[in-house]
Amino acid sequence: MNAALSRNWKHAVVTGGAGFVGSHLCTALLAQGASVTCIDDLSTGARENIAHLKGRPGFAFVEADVTEPFRIGREVDLVLHFASPASPADYLRLPLHTLDTGSLGTRNALAVARAHGARFVLASTSEVYGDPQQHPQSESYWGNVNPIGPRSVYDEAKRFGEALTTAEAGTHGTDTGIVRLFNTYGPRMRGHDGRAVPTFIRQALAGEALTVTGDGRQTRSLCHVDDTVRGVLAVAASDLRGPVNLGNPVEITMLGLARLITELTGSRSEIRFIERPTDDPAVRCPDITLARGKLQWEPEVAARDGLARTVDWFRKRPGA
Ligand SMILES: NC(=O)c1ccc[n+]([C@@H]2O[C@H](COP(=O)([O-])OP(=O)(O)OC[C@H]3O[C@@H](n4cnc5c(N)ncnc54)[C@H](O)[C@@H]3O)[C@@H](O)[C@H]2O)c1
Repeated sequence: MNAALSRNWKHAVVTGGAGFVGSHLCTALLAQGASVTCIDDLSTGARENIAHLKGRPGFAFVEADVTEPFRIGREVDLVLHFASPASPADYLRLPLHTLDTGSLGTRNALAVARAHGARFVLASTSEVYGDPQQHPQSESYWGNVNPIGPRSVYDEAKRFGEALTTAEAGTHGTDTGIVRLFNTYGPRMRGHDGRAVPTFIRQALAGEALTVTGDGRQTRSLCHVDDTVRGVLAVAASDLRGPVNLGNPVEITMLGLARLITELTGSRSEIRFIERPTDDPAVRCPDITLARGKLQWEPEVAARDGLARTVDWFRKRPGA
């Protein structure tokens, strides 16, 4: 990370800290010398994700739902608001919880940041671009979202969260930033969370057919979690309000991803084409000019390397 863009945080609050990305953020902040309070209701996360942090000086876990107002009893200088179901399987199972977490949860997390005069960063998503008509997607693109489709509970919750965060900064002067994360992958994803990378790895390791939706020509960009965490902390350390796209601009088709994972696992699994979900975006690729220019950030982990490391992690955890 650009040295000018790191800060010595004293005490960070990470909502959703027992989730996939949040647990890596907690780990990185502790490694930088910050104290961390992780708040999570374990609705889609797991204690196991933060088991390695238990007992570490400066780390505290609070099991709580951020849709209820919460207080932190000591000074806070950073709030990273990452609580939210994120995989389609989760937000389709928890539609109202997802909307509440993006709205009430964001409001409550902003209130904590305001009370402490802390920097606040909202985890938004490339899903705010919906099925994009601009490619690649830059931050100035307003998106193409179906407000009543099945995915809308997530997409609109995040869009509302962005509006709320922007209004909070304008109204109360709270120091806010917004990151729009594109697909991130890595250790601690769940094999059954419905996202392509863990699904394909689980299927390949089990010798099952890899289920590719549609004709597999739809693209995604895959960012390793180490790169995402570095980007989030760079935005946190900056004074950027954002939104800032964080993602890997190297696109891969879903069929290409399935073939690569078959190769990396040495699996003999075949590929099976299944129905494509409603409103599934055809393309997804970030324009990261802003992050490159303002933060000197760009992904460093190549897909082949990052996926190989993720496969290793899944191999060691057959139940994941
Ligand atoms: N992983 C990605 O590719 C990706 C892409 C774009 C955006 N994001 C965003 O990053 C954040 C983390 O995503 P993730 O992939 O780690 O998902 P995740 O499901 O692994 O983590 C989310 C965490 O939030 C917790 N949570 C959910 N609702 C809560 C509530 N009301 N109160 C307290 N805790 C709550 C869950 O228990 C879980 O631990 C989310 O906000 C997501 O929208 C992730």
